[in-house]
Amino acid sequence: MSKSFRIAALAGDGIGPEVMREAIAVLRAVETKFSTPLEITEAAVGWAGIDAHGHALCDEVLEICKSSDAILFGSVGLPDRDATVPKEQRPERAALLRLRKEFSLYANLRPVRLYPELVHACPLRPERIAKGVDVLVVRELTGGLYFGQPKQTTELPDGQKRAVDSMVYSTHEVERIAHVAFRAARLRRKHVTSTDKANVLESGLLWREVVTEVAKQYPDVTLEHMLADNAAMQLILNPARFDVLLCENTFGDMLSDEAAALAGSLGMLPSASLGASTGASTTFGLYEPAGGTAPDIAGKGIANPLAQILSATLLLRYSLGLESAATAVEKAIEKVIASGMQTRDVCAPNNPSPVGTRQIGQAIVEAILAGH
Ligand code: IPM
Ligand code: MG
Repeated sequence: MSKSFRIAALAGDGIGPEVMREAIAVLRAVETKFSTPLEITEAAVGWAGIDAHGHALCDEVLEICKSSDAILFGSVGLPDRDATVPKEQRPERAALLRLRKEFSLYANLRPVRLYPELVHACPLRPERIAKGVDVLVVRELTGGLYFGQPKQTTELPDGQKRAVDSMVYSTHEVERIAHVAFRAARLRRKHVTSTDKANVLESGLLWREVVTEVAKQYPDVTLEHMLADNAAMQLILNPARFDVLLCENTFGDMLSDEAAALAGSLGMLPSASLGASTGASTTFGLYEPAGGTAPDIAGKGIANPLAQILSATLLLRYSLGLESAATAVEKAIEKVIASGMQTRDVCAPNNPSPVGTRQIGQAIVEAILAGH
């Protein structure tokens, strides 16, 4: 057996546990197939954390994360329960945003890809996707409106409330995420579309200025600036024009959900959140589906586990450096999709029997074990 890796598996709420179960089964298959010991520690976060430990992310769970090579995250948040705790203790802020900030995970990579067998699930007309959809959203994750100060709600003398969020960016925050985008583009089709609202926002002007400057170090990559609202439209009119789509935090949140719809379903969109590279070939990261907890379908066994399983492949690649294992899982997924298996969210109209979460997860496990 080779070197052992440690993974913290934090399933969270809603569909989190059921899709996580399949991702862990896939990791176990990788462990067997590639003789790579994986120490997977499961822990409760989100509402599950509040129920188990009284906190969405308690210190013990944070310690488990700190002593791991990577975090495989499910999803957190159940809007129905929000009113029961103060906003600071709600899972989105107290668990997910805290982890992103605690580990300085500023680079969020969201690869959006439409599998040829799932084109029916894309809401665009066939001629608009004739050239396919293959976009990498690079989203800045620790700045902007999510974390900028001031961020508060105050009472005005007349009894009204006033809420403020601040879109704050400094040069170095834009620089480092721009480098991530350009380096990623070098491994792809060598085109970066950087989004901003330089026409109205101060932070947008700085964003454009800094990205333009960083681009000079990548003469082999073409850079195009696009206003974020226009990018939302172009994604639908002509998705093939995008290779790497660079966004600040909030625009990236929105544009990545839109891009996910092009891939057929939010259930298809994985993500990797990475921090500063230490120079080593691998880096600590948090890996999570970009979709949410989907409370409406939780517990029914019908959720699409692919976003979670694809997130696990990104974990194998970026944090464990297990490129061949990551490729093997991706091949297994391609094979299973090519075999016609479809969960309800991406089901073709002429397919009367969508498969469940377990079934597709099992099929992927079998394909990994059977692969070469
Ligand atoms: C995402 C999610 C999160 C975000 C929520 C759950 C806080 O929508 O990862 O895209 O807004 O970043
Ligand atoms: Mg989102």
